[in-house]
Amino acid sequence: MINKKVFQFPIMYTLPMNKIAIGWGVHETVADECKAANIKKALITTTGLKGTGIVDEINQILTSQGISTEIFDKVTSNPKDYEIMEAYKVFKEAECDGVVSVGGGSSHDCGKGVRILDANKGKHIHDFVLHKDVPWMEEAKKHKPATLPQIAVNTTAGTAAESTCAAQFTDTKRRTKPVIILPCLAPTAALIDPLLIRLMPQNITAWTGFDAFAHAFEGFLSRIHSNYTAAISLRIIKMVAENLREFTYNRMNNNACERMCWASTMGGIAIGFGAGAGIVSFCLVGTLVGGVTVTGLMPAPFDLYNASLGAVLSLAIVIIFVRRR
Ligand SMILES: [Fe+2]
Repeated sequence: MINKKVFQFPIMYTLPMNKIAIGWGVHETVADECKAANIKKALITTTGLKGTGIVDEINQILTSQGISTEIFDKVTSNPKDYEIMEAYKVFKEAECDGVVSVGGGSSHDCGKGVRILDANKGKHIHDFVLHKDVPWMEEAKKHKPATLPQIAVNTTAGTAAESTCAAQFTDTKRRTKPVIILPCLAPTAALIDPLLIRLMPQNITAWTGFDAFAHAFEGFLSRIHSNYTAAISLRIIKMVAENLREFTYNRMNNNACERMCWASTMGGIAIGFGAGAGIVSFCLVGTLVGGVTVTGLMPAPFDLYNASLGAVLSLAIVIIFVRRR
């Protein structure tokens, strides 16, 4: 019998594919990437990464190579709607022409928010939220694609924000965590440097690493997965299984660090190339799919770290799956 199912990938919103560079010392190319993207004045979106010196270093690399900067370091975890609006105000007032996001998913998503607002002037970040009760791909087409360049410098490994066209924020009024998906929303270039990644605190290492696992796990189980995305997902699961525990306890293990960098960004690529995000991610999102009751209530009020909640949910979902078989 012929299998008449048609597989199509990548999913439209992943195009064009962004540039991803993984390697020791690659963060030092941040000014080159800005020049390549024609950024003359960059808004640096970050949580501040206090005590690491990373933001100062990135700022120094940029300014010493002729890129002016403005720093917005008020991003918090699960970035809040008003933080994104404020970052955009700073962006406009400082007359920036690009974004350099330094950090993990929150910093990158804030940067993506600024780019969305810049492309669709006069709108509020709430206007871009996708809802489950309309065809969301059609709804996404109503907005202009985020063409403003963004260079993402990773300091965590697992959220995959550096390689997806999605952004998540906290709607502080509705107390939910909705998602935005728009064409071209993936950063123009992602710089994933193990030198920075290994500075993560232990708990963030474990949580974000498990986020990478969750993307692969749900991508593998996804009803729209293909052989192509299944292969990527299985490879990620293997890398996380073999390296996350070691990396969590020994951040100076170079091999484990590198593997987790790969696992992070491959997760985003697997999602965009057709696996889609699955039950864990959508349970963390406020309005997109059926898990509304779970999602609207859980992450936002307690401001729980997204990846740690993902870890808990993954385990719960595994238990449910096993019991139903
Ligand atoms: Fe995630």
